[in-house]
Amino acid sequence: LADDHDLRGRRVLVTGASSGIGAALARGLAAEGAVVALSARRADRLDEVLADCRATSPDSCSIPLDLAEPDAPERLVTEAEQALGGIDVLVNNAGIPKRRAAEDLSTDEVEQVVRLNLLSAMRLTLAALPNMRAAGWGRLVVVSSVAARLSPPGESAYAATKAGLAAFHESLAAELWGSGVTVHLINPGVIDTELYVVPGNDPSFADVEALPADALVEPTLRAMRDGTLETWVPEWFADVAVVKAGDLAGFVQGAAEYRAQQLAAGVGPDAD
Ligand SMILES: NC(=O)c1ccc[n+]([C@@H]2O[C@H](COP(=O)([O-])OP(=O)(O)OC[C@H]3O[C@@H](n4cnc5c(N)ncnc54)[C@H](OP(=O)(O)O)[C@@H]3O)[C@@H](O)[C@H]2O)c1
Repeated sequence: LADDHDLRGRRVLVTGASSGIGAALARGLAAEGAVVALSARRADRLDEVLADCRATSPDSCSIPLDLAEPDAPERLVTEAEQALGGIDVLVNNAGIPKRRAAEDLSTDEVEQVVRLNLLSAMRLTLAALPNMRAAGWGRLVVVSSVAARLSPPGESAYAATKAGLAAFHESLAAELWGSGVTVHLINPGVIDTELYVVPGNDPSFADVEALPADALVEPTLRAMRDGTLETWVPEWFADVAVVKAGDLAGFVQGAAEYRAQQLAAGVGPDAD
């Protein structure tokens, strides 16, 4: 390996690699010469992404699996370590949406989104960490969300999973300081992916322009190279988080007004 920041030959596990952001990151990492293990449930979709990855990184592989099953996170790390000979970079990306007003949420829905978005991602990190620590080098990339910081109305359970993911990895980043293992939170805004057509969700309130999944690739690679702890795509969302931190009550009032406006304009769940 040429240097600390060179991804050539690095062994990467990407979860949620069958579509959207995970597929874009897998292709982007393979284009840098990283060897990628792709995971998600849909094996046929993984095969399509894998074919692209193998064009630049022939030893890449896929490990189809449902991360919501018992012991799946630990099993995935073991299988990826066996297939790749180790894991240098974990991209915790698999996730599901939950666009539903809190009072309409069932406990099953809450459990489902917490199990996948939060619990499985924490377990993946914990399972991959010991060998990264032993090697003295590792990159923990977490595809979080602007929702982790902005708690948008209509997405309480989803926002809670992303906020939990951020808090867990921030604590961990401090514990790992100086160890050679670094944490990189990636906060996408609105990205044009299948997340917006997953069944069992209300329509989105968001009215900002959706970016393509490829927009995440360069900022994520840069974060890993520069050691950046938190990255926003698009960047202006960082300013919104600063405003919120300065006046939480004012921000929540503004969010309530925005929601009311959107509903009145026919956007969102109860619009009709
Ligand atoms: N799109 C956005 O606007 C946006 C904004 C902020 C954050 N994000 C985050 O970005 C990440 C990727 O989402 P995306 O937007 O790219 O949507 P996506 O295209 O729907 O991708 C979600 C990925 O997660 C996988 N997945 C879902 N359930 C799984 C399970 N039980 N076991 C294993 N894998 C599972 C899906 O694959 P299978 O269905 O094949 O299992 C798919 O590869 C998510 O964590 C999401 O919260 C997205």
